[in-house]
Amino acid sequence: MPFSASDKHDIGHIWEKVAPNVDSLGEEAMERLFKCHPKTKTYFSHLNVQHGSADIKSQGSKVLKAIGHASQHLDNLDEALSDLSDLHAHELRVDPGNFHLLCHNILVVLAIHFPKDFTAHAHAAWDKFLACISETLYSKYR
Ligand code: HEM
Repeated sequence: MPFSASDKHDIGHIWEKVAPNVDSLGEEAMERLFKCHPKTKTYFSHLNVQHGSADIKSQGSKVLKAIGHASQHLDNLDEALSDLSDLHAHELRVDPGNFHLLCHNILVVLAIHFPKDFTAHAHAAWDKFLACISETLYSKYR
């Protein structure tokens, strides 16, 4: 799915605000995911997913950093996310139905923390961006 110039602008603009706060915002997105959709915790049974745990913070930070990396490679997500795609498809075998749940919670976090920047257009651009990342991550499922 190609990104328009204004999509790219909105994705980059919000990412600049997220980047200095990946730990706290990532943690919040994971906390919300686990609270709203407790079944997603089953994938993380080897980690401590109790409220406020270091594992949740670390996982959220990794997810947002991967999204930041993707934001620098909007025209080539397949290559930029190839290793992560292998991991999610072949090792973790995360059911594709879970991706939109995480994406939704990331959007909620952006809307709460950056209300002025989260215009309807920015919302649509980020929705598309996160959907493309998700599609790339489960593209290698067989
Ligand atoms: C690990 C990103 C969606 C489950 C990871 C890692 C990253 C990542 C960067 C760490 C990889 C590493 O350490 O090399 C993403 C992104 C997602 C996404 C960008 C979508 C926007 C999901 C979903 C689930 C999931 C929906 C399940 C509900 C896991 C698990 C691990 C993992 C279980 C391994 C955790 C560990 O053992 O430390 N993901 N992920 N991911 N992800 Fe995802």
